[in-house]
Amino acid sequence: MSTVVDRGLEGVVVGTTHLSNVEGAIGRLTYRGYDIDDLAPSATFEEIVHLLLYGHLPNRAELETLKRELGAQRSLPEPLLSAMQNVPKTAWPMDVLRTIVSGLALFSPVDARGEHVSDVHTAIELIAKMPTIVAAWDRVRRGLDPIEPRADLSQAANFLYMRSGKMSNGVEADALDTYFVLLADHSYNASTFSARVTASTRADLYASITAALATLQGDLHGGAATAAFRAISEVGSPENAEAYVRDTLSRGQRIMGMGHREYKVRDPRARHLEAMAKKLSEQASSRWYEIAHRMEEASRKVLQEKKPDNTIYANVDFYTAPVLADLGVPGDEFTCLFACGRIAGWTGHVLEQLADNRLIRPQASYDGPAPGPYVPLEKRDANGARN
Ligand code: COA
Repeated sequence: MSTVVDRGLEGVVVGTTHLSNVEGAIGRLTYRGYDIDDLAPSATFEEIVHLLLYGHLPNRAELETLKRELGAQRSLPEPLLSAMQNVPKTAWPMDVLRTIVSGLALFSPVDARGEHVSDVHTAIELIAKMPTIVAAWDRVRRGLDPIEPRADLSQAANFLYMRSGKMSNGVEADALDTYFVLLADHSYNASTFSARVTASTRADLYASITAALATLQGDLHGGAATAAFRAISEVGSPENAEAYVRDTLSRGQRIMGMGHREYKVRDPRARHLEAMAKKLSEQASSRWYEIAHRMEEASRKVLQEKKPDNTIYANVDFYTAPVLADLGVPGDEFTCLFACGRIAGWTGHVLEQLADNRLIRPQASYDGPAPGPYVPLEKRDANGARN
């Protein structure tokens, strides 16, 4: 019997989860049974953190307790802030975020076996600190002092405050909050799977989240919004959108922020992000939304011309680009902002994995040379083969 190789694990079910469900055929995303379409306009990110970590939406007292804990956990250990001061100012924000998150383990207590505690409180610590790291590096690389987090603000409002030193207006904080809600979880996506694989070896939360961050960075995953923003900036003006799309596709390249492994219809998160992008663009009098919108229309048109039955639509990363750009976030920090939302799901998945663990260890079909004897050094030719 021949071995079936599923490159990319497409359609392969490798585990179960209670956290979220992606129904790609109908374009529905639910967190523990709640539709993202209902959550996005109504729920705060803190409610979603509670839903994912504790299994249910919080009552008022539970929400206040969670907010207090998040607020109390936001500050970074001083040595990590000092370490950031010594990093070259050209360092990529995702490199800094991944390194400092890994560094948090150095300041976390260990038990008698030298292990860190991986529980809901460590999860909350990581959720709380992630935006502080991103905002601190944003300022340090601009030659400014980091701003201490405020415990009384939401995750979103506090991030905007730590970046700029000013209180954002309600529209901006609400937009970022909704962005975090939309990004909070997405079943076994690549970075979450990576976190679960790491946790399945009984590595701790710090290690698992570091692995997730490493996996997020590529432009087929969390790096796509940065790539989409690069494209939108290059297009520069709405009337150039179609020519750009035609040129990109004719060179066999992809339109970043389009297409999805799971969704065969438009990503449900894109609709909410598009509405936010439109609102923010109007407020900021910017052209980002208009350019993005025209690019999406042009992509649909040109892709349809090529293949009438194609199913490539805007994904979550496409309208992330104009949203974050209009919030004043630099393009190379977009993946970090993705991480500040997805950390809720990552930590939830790691705790779920640890609660019912089985080592994740798939097989590969071997395609190398047939077994043969070891070749001693003096008998090898220039290519290392037997002479
Ligand atoms: N632009 C143009 N064509 C695209 C495309 C895009 N963004 N995404 C997929 N396609 C095309 C591929 O070229 C391929 O065409 P072919 O069958 O003629 O060769 C077909 O669609 C299938 O692509 P494939 O890469 O096999 O699908 P996948 O399930 O592995 O792709 C992504 C999923 C996300 C990797 C892919 O859509 C992509 O690269 N998108 C751009 C990056 C991005 O936005 N990533 C964030 C995802 S949330």
